[in-house]
Amino acid sequence: MTAVLTRRSEQRLSEPAPGDEEFIYLLNGAAAAPDHGRLRPWRWILLRGADREPLAARLAQEAAQEATAEEREQIARKALRAPLKALLVFSPVTGPKVPEWEQLAATSSMAYGLMLLLHVRGYGSIWRTGRLCESTAAAELLGLRPGERLLGSLDIGTPDRSSGPPVRRERDDVADRVSCFTA
Ligand SMILES: Cc1cc2nc3c(=O)[nH]c(=O)nc-3n(C[C@H](O)[C@H](O)[C@H](O)COP(=O)(O)O)c2cc1C
Repeated sequence: MTAVLTRRSEQRLSEPAPGDEEFIYLLNGAAAAPDHGRLRPWRWILLRGADREPLAARLAQEAAQEATAEEREQIARKALRAPLKALLVFSPVTGPKVPEWEQLAATSSMAYGLMLLLHVRGYGSIWRTGRLCESTAAAELLGLRPGERLLGSLDIGTPDRSSGPPVRRERDDVADRVSCFTA
């Protein structure tokens, strides 16, 4: 309960971020999430440091038609905010009798598990979507295969804790989302 209630989507993230080995260690835990058919219908592409720049440039360039130079700069800056951008690719498996929505549900379960594991280890993360998910330039740059879809970036790093430790949030009362069927 403490982990669940103290995790927040962290807007400001700096170094350090987990290295590849630590990321994979945590992902091996997150991959224990429920997954009908154990299809693992996802993959991650990690971008760090200067390797984030081609993506930032492509996103900015793609917005040339509708955005001002200043807005394009902002688009590029946003893609460079976190030390580690872990791009989540949905790779639904066709053929088995597990519908695509179930595979998407399994992918989301894994992603949330990873966010919790990162948090418990002292890292912060935020799942960002926006124009990245719709970008054909990004899909091309990243080598997405037919049928794959970018679900966004899990921006990862170390959160700013200068104003104190993570605060345990108030638990919302969601009892109204539950009903008991009686025969
Ligand atoms: C699928 C998904 C997409 C999201 N996309 C964005 C986004 O593009 N930008 C953003 O600032 N936060 C994004 N978020 C984070 C939510 O805004 C955040 O979880 C929500 O504000 C609640 O904050 P909390 O995680 O601290 O409870 C996304 C979350 C999910 C699950």
